Amino acid sequence: MSLTPLTARFFPARGGRSLLIGMPEMRQSSLVVVANRLPIDDSAAPDGACEWRRSPGGLGSALHPLLRHTPAAWVGWAGGTGPAPRLPDIDGVRMHTVPLSPEDLRDHYEGFANATLWPLYHDAVEQPEHHRRWWEAYQRVNRRFAEATAEVTEPGAVVWVQDYHLQLVPGLLRDLRPDLRIGFFLHVPFPPPELFMQLPRRAELLRGMLGADLIGFQRAQAAHNFAQLVAKVLELPATDRRIDVGDRAVRVGAFPVSIDTAEMAALAARPDVAARARRLRQDLGDPDRVILSVDRMDYTKGIEQRLKAYRELLAGGHVKVPHTVLVQVAVPSRERVGQYQILRDRVEHQVGRINGEFGRVGEPAIHYLTQPFDRAELAALYRIADVMAVTPLRDGMNLVAKEYVAARVDDTGALLLSEFAGAAAELPQAYQVNPHDLEGLKQGLLAALRADPTDAMRRMRAMRAHLRDNDIRAWARSYLSALDDGDSLLTRLTTAG
Ligand code: ADP
Ligand code: G6P
Repeated sequence: MSLTPLTARFFPARGGRSLLIGMPEMRQSSLVVVANRLPIDDSAAPDGACEWRRSPGGLGSALHPLLRHTPAAWVGWAGGTGPAPRLPDIDGVRMHTVPLSPEDLRDHYEGFANATLWPLYHDAVEQPEHHRRWWEAYQRVNRRFAEATAEVTEPGAVVWVQDYHLQLVPGLLRDLRPDLRIGFFLHVPFPPPELFMQLPRRAELLRGMLGADLIGFQRAQAAHNFAQLVAKVLELPATDRRIDVGDRAVRVGAFPVSIDTAEMAALAARPDVAARARRLRQDLGDPDRVILSVDRMDYTKGIEQRLKAYRELLAGGHVKVPHTVLVQVAVPSRERVGQYQILRDRVEHQVGRINGEFGRVGEPAIHYLTQPFDRAELAALYRIADVMAVTPLRDGMNLVAKEYVAARVDDTGALLLSEFAGAAAELPQAYQVNPHDLEGLKQGLLAALRADPTDAMRRMRAMRAHLRDNDIRAWARSYLSALDDGDSLLTRLTTAG
């Protein structure tokens, strides 16, 4: 790959301060991933001793195993506010930081991305808010990402833009760099027209996405929703596979994201992880049945509904402490957004109430943990879970469900899975439930707890076989070959790591 030193400095759209002060030269890359968040945080950055930080969240979990030791670059935000820190390469991947000011953080990230788009795209399970100031910030920050990307991308290279924070970037980048091959992938659901139509700036958002050559969604239904909206709002000829924008054809498709199945299986099989799992089970008091849930603290994850179902099962005497325990991991997320603060308070109130009513000294009904864990600890947790309860109200994919299946190296265990997780389409052998239906949720949980071992093993084997063939590399291969007609970049990317 040719490395082209750049002497030009890059200036933001407003404020006049160099965005990339301290970057004496900038090299260009042949594959550039653009995502709101870099896989590091600002606390790790300043001393140069950076490591990948797999912050809780599916996007980072998906891209991390793919990009390590590849010629890729990543354009993103390093967390925090203020000037962009200069970062060294991490595992060979170049990190290009885009700064956010306190106003950008409030109005772009917490506002338009996470209080307008996020709830709207997840079935409006919380009320989306609309503010003109947030839209201005969204445009401003998208422009900054597009300009930063244009600077660091080789002529004719591939740029892969990720997720709902950056829907305008494909269009802005195409204007700046028509030579690039541009992909866009949405990790979250894309809503049906009746919801999307609520957005005051719906036409601009659709036009922004159409700057891409290939627009990828998790599910075919999302591609269908998108095509319908483009036809209705922009009056362009659109099918679920192709949209004609002037003389350009934009391809559309479903590419369900996945995990590094082999890596998770190998981790779960490690003797130290097995020993850690035995220890964890002892620490839980050697219960007959362990139920596990692992979520970001997000109202889309159905944590309150699940706790309510568990409480009613305890109250009805269907499950008993200490024979059965629930381990709920809920790592805090987007903590300054009001809806997330309210959720955390409510969940913690519920956990306290259930433990107060049904726990005993040294024997809580729920073991509630809010810490981020490393991958080995997560694998050990998956190994002790007789039942993994993954019951979101709506989820683009849900990689936790896939990680659990991959970690069940002895083919035991039962996955309780919401019909409204993208993963449900791929894992029909899971015990599927409608998380809005409290009785159904309780019955599903009981069915998973009481599963016949032979039947459970048959289900688990089928799910494991699916994930072996449909792992993260298969995802990247199918997406990038559709985007780039399968050149050597794709081969390097999907065989590395
Ligand atoms: P989302 O992207 O909405 O957070 P996913 O289930 O797709 O949901 O992805 C969550 C990712 O975050 C998974 O890879 C999971 O392992 C990771 N994760 C969740 N909770 C924790 C935690 N407490 N510590 C470390 N990683 C976590
Ligand atoms: C989901 C989104 C990602 C996001 C992640 C964590 O997976 O699709 O784009 O990065 O959640 O959320 P955060 O707000 O912490 O980046």
